[in-house]
Amino acid sequence: MARRFVSINNAPLRTAVVGYGYWGPNLVRNVMERPELEFAGLCERDPARAAAYSARYAGQPVFNDLSLVLADDTIDAVVVATPPRTHHAIVRACLEAGKHVLVEKPLATTTADAVDLLETASRNGRTLMPGHTFVYSPPVNKIKEIIAGGTLGEVYFVTSSRMNLGKYQADGVICDLAPHDLSILLYWLDSPIVEVAATGRSIFQAGIPETAFITLTFANGANANIQVSWLAPRKVREMTVVGSQRMIQYDDNAADEAVRIFDRGMEFSVPQTFGEYQLTYRSGDMIVPRLEPAEPLSLELADFAQAIRTGTEPRSSAQLGLEIVMAMEAAEESLRRNGEPIAIERAPLRVAA
Ligand SMILES: NC(=O)c1ccc[n+]([C@@H]2O[C@H](COP(=O)([O-])OP(=O)(O)OC[C@H]3O[C@@H](n4cnc5c(N)ncnc54)[C@H](O)[C@@H]3O)[C@@H](O)[C@H]2O)c1
Repeated sequence: MARRFVSINNAPLRTAVVGYGYWGPNLVRNVMERPELEFAGLCERDPARAAAYSARYAGQPVFNDLSLVLADDTIDAVVVATPPRTHHAIVRACLEAGKHVLVEKPLATTTADAVDLLETASRNGRTLMPGHTFVYSPPVNKIKEIIAGGTLGEVYFVTSSRMNLGKYQADGVICDLAPHDLSILLYWLDSPIVEVAATGRSIFQAGIPETAFITLTFANGANANIQVSWLAPRKVREMTVVGSQRMIQYDDNAADEAVRIFDRGMEFSVPQTFGEYQLTYRSGDMIVPRLEPAEPLSLELADFAQAIRTGTEPRSSAQLGLEIVMAMEAAEESLRRNGEPIAIERAPLRVAA
């Protein structure tokens, strides 16, 4: 097992945030609000973004270079909200400087970089956590509970659509949106992905897909299909889980009825003796479970603090982050090879003894 340094006192963990673009403001606000954390300042190298933060939070510290955060021994932890291709260098520098790190999804853009980050965290005895927010979302957790409780029976397959007229980004739509679907699927199905096939379109710039169709095979035999796109007329966040006993529809845009459980299915029996097969359709009740309201990002930060304090793995673990990067990388490889299925192979990690 890797050694992990844990805090010996209960003082709030002094936490800096790096990046104040689209998503960073949500992290700054939540770090300020969590009682387990003490906001230690923002690191933002774009003067206009730093000015927007200072206008909102007068008098709060601002650093214009990461080296200033790394050199500050009073800072325990860093939350990184910069573009994916910058994650590896920034997170590695923070871990080497002895900081615990929560990095926005995805953990890194290549498997080699993600493995390197897990090994660096282990070597330095620091908590490394990717920010897969959806594993803290009330509807996702309700469905996890239902699947784990056996109500659905055997999960045959899951479909997922995540589309909108989205913000175009150099890292491509797979890197931007698919980590959400992948984190939810790995969390629900609790089984590694063994094969990935993907097709898609790069309409505006070669090598930067705006749309992708990804098909996954899990070790437990379940399948999933994910559609991600920045080219759609309206925001769609829908998943369907089909099990042998029940089926679920999850619509993240439908606030009060985000999760609907259907007692529907098909019974197929082949007679022992020669004769016609029997097919029976089941069309029972639909149930809408009650969901407790909660802000996922706030729960994610509480889990980060708990992981640092106790040395335990957060729900959004570094291993989950690595699995997601492997699947993302395989999807991108399959896309380049016109949909050829790519098997995922796992090499053992070098963790500190
Ligand atoms: N969990 C979610 O639901 C969710 C939603 C949106 C974005 N994200 C993630 O958040 C991250 C940031 O995305 P975004 O859309 O906010 O990006 P963005 O490009 O809007 O903002 C990034 C900011 O980081 C700053 N920056 C970059 N390198 C820096 C450095 N070395 N030092 C200091 N500042 C630096 C930039 O100046 C910019 O202001 C990505 O990993 C993205 O995937 C997560």
